[in-house]
Amino acid sequence: MKVYADNAATTYLSETARTVLIDALDKYNGNPNSLHSDGQLAKEKLEEARQTVAKYINAKNANEIYFTSGGSEADNQALISAAKGLKDKGKKHLITLSIEHHAILHTMATLEKEGFEVTYLNPKSNGIVDVEDVRNALREDTALVSVMFANNEMGAIQPIPEIGALCKEKGVLFHTDAVQATAHLPIDVQAMNIDMLSLSAHKFHGPKGVGVLYARNGIRLINIIEGGAQERGKRAGTINVPGILSLAAALKEACDNMEENMNKVKALRDRLINGLKEIPYSKLNGDPVKRLPGNVNYSFEGVEGESLLLGLDREGICCSSGSACTSESLDPSHVLTGMGLPIELAHGSLRFSLDINNTEEEIDYIIEKVNQVVDRYREMSPLWEDLKTGKRQHYLPE
Ligand SMILES: Cc1ncc(COP(=O)(O)O)c(C=O)c1O
Repeated sequence: MKVYADNAATTYLSETARTVLIDALDKYNGNPNSLHSDGQLAKEKLEEARQTVAKYINAKNANEIYFTSGGSEADNQALISAAKGLKDKGKKHLITLSIEHHAILHTMATLEKEGFEVTYLNPKSNGIVDVEDVRNALREDTALVSVMFANNEMGAIQPIPEIGALCKEKGVLFHTDAVQATAHLPIDVQAMNIDMLSLSAHKFHGPKGVGVLYARNGIRLINIIEGGAQERGKRAGTINVPGILSLAAALKEACDNMEENMNKVKALRDRLINGLKEIPYSKLNGDPVKRLPGNVNYSFEGVEGESLLLGLDREGICCSSGSACTSESLDPSHVLTGMGLPIELAHGSLRFSLDINNTEEEIDYIIEKVNQVVDRYREMSPLWEDLKTGKRQHYLPE
């Protein structure tokens, strides 16, 4: 059996998104910045897509939507704009979480080298930050708080409306990386007081290489790609109209069916969690309730996540042992260690990210194979031997 359970890394195109994409490659091939009729037709479609995105995140105005090459670019531009845009006002401090995606963490590190100061907050052991910790970290010179909507590795959903209200009260900009949450969880940028938000099409069955930066009117964006005057002068480069139309179609499809999809995927997720619970010395990472509908992140003592991942791949199961960007490194996940998990348990973790294309039969197959593979690798593991013979203490109860 072949089971794709790595939807947090990327999803497959939906039929709708594929049809729109292929259709647009021929039909809307004009450059939307050209004045002739082909160009103007493409521009019309582009502006319709902008309206669609605005509608589904409840932006006040479609001109608050800027199309980018994906989540990473949107994250970079949001942070750089807030930091450099407010520097003249004496604001040089930024707040974020230690468990953010590297698109945030590496941009913050670059800003630190340029003289900005960054506070990295650790979440509680359930992966969720305490809003009081955000409040206590705020300073007179804080320019921005950037807190992800939901975590890509262990799925914890952050208290976004509460942080939004706090930032509004204190007059501090609030950005959220909603790459994993968009189209999976309800988002309302106005009600949640979100000033900037990043999203990416390939996480909700749209194409790769296309995303959005939402920036509330009044926020001065700083270009990170210089060149032509596309996207109201804030993002140079000939516009990827087919990708954008496909993004909008995928977003519409997922949001129109969100309630039904969430219920179906949550039931699959909980079936998998219940099955994995039976494996001795194992543990679910991240809040059991406030988590993405499709996320299951589990640690197994005495084994390496990478070995399990490869063992499961041989059984036809695609999953992950960390975020896609770090899966080639042998460092333990910064997300799991950031929420206080011992390095050994972080090393022995697997992420399954499910979606509407998965079935109950597939979940039962995953449970069966994880049991077998964990047993097999534990038998070969010197670490497991030490745990069995009492040379090392278990972190987890049986
Ligand atoms: C939380 C989060 N932010 C940002 C990104 C980067 O998005 P993109 O691949 O569109 O650049 C990802 C991708 O894995 C992600 O999970």
